[in-house]
Amino acid sequence: MKIAVCGKGGCGKSTVTSLLAKALARRGKEILVIDSDESNYGLHRQLGMKLPRDFTDYFGGKQNVLNDMMLSKFTHQFFEETWTIDDIPEDYYSLKDGVKLMSSGKIHQANEGCSCAMGTVMTQFIQNLRLTEDQFALMDMEAGIEHFKKIGELSESIQKPFYYVFNKVTKENQEMMYEAVWNSSRVAVSLGADPGIMGEGLMGKELSEKPDAIENLTEFLLSI
Ligand SMILES: Nc1ncnc2c1ncn2[C@@H]1O[C@H](COP(=O)(O)OP(=O)(O)OP(=O)(O)O)[C@@H](O)[C@H]1O
Ligand SMILES: [Mg+2]
Repeated sequence: MKIAVCGKGGCGKSTVTSLLAKALARRGKEILVIDSDESNYGLHRQLGMKLPRDFTDYFGGKQNVLNDMMLSKFTHQFFEETWTIDDIPEDYYSLKDGVKLMSSGKIHQANEGCSCAMGTVMTQFIQNLRLTEDQFALMDMEAGIEHFKKIGELSESIQKPFYYVFNKVTKENQEMMYEAVWNSSRVAVSLGADPGIMGEGLMGKELSEKPDAIENLTEFLLSI
C-alpha cells in the first residue's frame, strides 16, 4: 500500500508518518518512509535516524536531473524498470527497526534553484515502485493543500481513497474539525494534542509514544 500523508504546514504530517511507520513495523510490516519535503529537517529525527543522502544524487545530482528534464522537454524517464524496496541502493537509505527512510533531496544552500528535480524523480520512483502485501510506502509530503474539502475532491477525482487523521485535537477544536471535512465518514482517527509528542518534537528527539489513535489507524489500514 502506498500512502501519501498530506496537509497544511505544521499540522503533524511528519509526526503521524513517523508514528504510523513505527506502529506498522512493530506488526512485522516492511516500511519505506519517503521524505519528500525538501525544506524540512524533522522527519529523520522523529524516526531516530540519520538523514539519508539525497536520492537525486543517484541520478547525478539536482542539476543533472534538471538538464535531463529540460533536454527531453520534461519527458525523461529516470527508471527503466520497476523497482522494489530492496533495489534502493544502500547509500540512499537509513534503516532502523524495520523502517527504511529515503529522502528525495533537501535544499542545502541558498539560491539552489527550483525543487522540481526532486519532485520529478520522486514521482517517477513512486510510480515505478512495486510493493508486496506486507510492504507499505509512507510519503511525508511537503505542506500543501490546506483545505480538508479540497483534499477530498482531489483524491476522488483521481479515484484514490482518502482518510482524514485529525491531529492536535482538543475538546475545543474537535467540533470545528468535523465541520470542516468533506465527509465525516472519512475521519479515520483523532489524535489528541499530546504534551509528550510535543516535547519530543521540540527537542528533535525520536518519538517514543504509542498513542491509541495511531494503533487504531494502523489496524484500520491493515483491515482495508
Ligand atoms: N498530536 C500532537 N500533539 C502535540 N504536538 C504535536 C502533535 N502532532 C504534532 N505535534 C507538534 O507539532 C509540530 C509540527 O509537527 P510536524 O513537524 O509533524 O508537522 P508537519 O505537518 O510535518 O510540518 P511541516 O508542514 O513543517 O512539514 C511539531 O513541533 C510536533 O512535535
Ligand atoms: Mg513535516
